[in-house]
Amino acid sequence: MTKSLYERLGGAPKVASIARDIVRAHLANPIIKTRFEIIDAAKLETNVRDFFGMGTGGPEQYQGRDMPTAHKGMNLNERELVAAIDDVLKVLEQHGIGEGERREVLAILYSLKNEVLFK
Ligand code: HEM
Repeated sequence: MTKSLYERLGGAPKVASIARDIVRAHLANPIIKTRFEIIDAAKLETNVRDFFGMGTGGPEQYQGRDMPTAHKGMNLNERELVAAIDDVLKVLEQHGIGEGERREVLAILYSLKNEVLFK
């Protein structure tokens, strides 16, 4: 049987450290870091971990808000979306995740575009 994307990413420990590094990358990214200045980074890390884990086929139970609600009032634009996605792809590469898996994650993120932009 084909392994889930979650398993191919390396399972729970890997997904958790990838989530941590994604939040760090966003906090350091000049295009988007101001968006994260007043938020609880530890809580965001937990939510990103569980969202990412659940969305790739893991047992994590995401307890955060749905995407339009979480991004409501931010009026995010395409440039910010690309910057955020670039952070994720860079972190995956730094974690040794192969191109096939990176493309799968990219497709998932892109499919959520209309749930986060201009809300
Ligand atoms: C496909 C793209 C995206 C996904 C999958 C995503 C995912 C998430 C998730 C899972 C949360 C946690 C929700 C919660 O706390 O209940 C969150 C919160 C947040 N996201 Fe995104 N996000 C995306 C795009 C973006 C972009 C482009 C930005 C800004 C550049 C952004 C900024 C934020 C901020 C600031 C929060 C914290 C909101 C708060 O605590 O009030 N997100 N996002």
